[in-house]
Amino acid sequence: MKTVLITGGAGYVGSILVPKLLTQGYKVVVVDTLFFTDIGLQSVKSNPNLKIVQGDIRDKELVKKSLQGVDAVIHLASISNDPSSDLNPQLTVEVNYEASLNLINASKAAGVKRFINASTSSVYGIKDIPNVTEDLPLDPLTVYSKTKADTEPFVTKSNDGNFTAVNIRPATVMGYSPKMRLDLTVNILTMHALTKGKITVFGGGQKRPNIHIEDITDYYCKLLEIPSEKIAGKTFNAGYENFTVSQIAEMVKEIIGSHVTIETTPSNDNRSYHISSAKIEKELGLKPNHTIKDAVLDIKKASEKGLLDWSNPNFYNVKKMKTLMEDQKVLLNA
Ligand SMILES: NC(=O)c1ccc[n+]([C@@H]2O[C@H](COP(=O)([O-])OP(=O)(O)OC[C@H]3O[C@@H](n4cnc5c(N)ncnc54)[C@H](O)[C@@H]3O)[C@@H](O)[C@H]2O)c1
Repeated sequence: MKTVLITGGAGYVGSILVPKLLTQGYKVVVVDTLFFTDIGLQSVKSNPNLKIVQGDIRDKELVKKSLQGVDAVIHLASISNDPSSDLNPQLTVEVNYEASLNLINASKAAGVKRFINASTSSVYGIKDIPNVTEDLPLDPLTVYSKTKADTEPFVTKSNDGNFTAVNIRPATVMGYSPKMRLDLTVNILTMHALTKGKITVFGGGQKRPNIHIEDITDYYCKLLEIPSEKIAGKTFNAGYENFTVSQIAEMVKEIIGSHVTIETTPSNDNRSYHISSAKIEKELGLKPNHTIKDAVLDIKKASEKGLLDWSNPNFYNVKKMKTLMEDQKVLLNA
């Protein structure tokens, strides 16, 4: 039985990924500060093949200990959006960059065979061309995307005959997770449609690439088994189609109901992001099976089943991080 260490495994993506890996017969170790509690892992908490270590990836001793007997690492832990990263740029550098570098080195030293790094498609910044491919120069515009872009070359360089290392650049993730994130485009538009019957779109012409949470977590599972030579030292975009925010709003309305109104307000922020996901499909055969409408429907169903408490503070990354910082629950390394 293979053991996989998931850093940040109690987050939005991890809370779907961890149960999937357990079902597929892996042993899973989660290392997570539990900034957003372990609400996402309630359904699997008592699984004997899951170990949850509450700890910080900046803690080198804890990282070293947690890596014992681990075959593969999926590195998700991060201060994981622009506004949260801007709250304390130094913290972001410590977690997203410095701790990532240590994690890569410690993984190699511990005899880990495979390292999958969650980067982001925002490393490209804004590009005018329609299909942003992996070979284009990076232009990270924020502390968050800069720390992600700076980490990638270390992942690539760490790759060797004994250590298969790969970078994945996911688009914005969408869909239901028991540790929900309500700062992500499709999720937030769906919440507004459900709770207010109204979606406000700022600008609307901007493109936003998305990927369903079931697809990105399926990709991570498959990346554990894909032959090394296909991924070794490589970098892949992972997205679905690139729709504009107005198109996404129309899809949300279609699923939630004709009573939903869409109000468009002019915006100065007309930044469009679009990525090509042709490489990951061509080279690895990975392509999305879930659409934006699926994500909206999943959120609607979860809400109807009472699984989504819109007022849960753990579903709002920036607000929660701000509170943790104010309460001195997250500190800089000395
Ligand atoms: N969700 C998206 O739209 C998206 C898109 C592209 C890339 N990504 C990347 O995917 C990864 C997972 O994203 P997510 O949406 O699940 O984010 P999330 O914020 O929901 O989860 C991140 C988890 O990491 C933990 N964490 C933060 N700092 C830590 C530290 N120092 N030590 C240990 N644990 C720590 C948090 O407690 C949290 O549980 C991140 O690296 C993110 O940058 C996400």
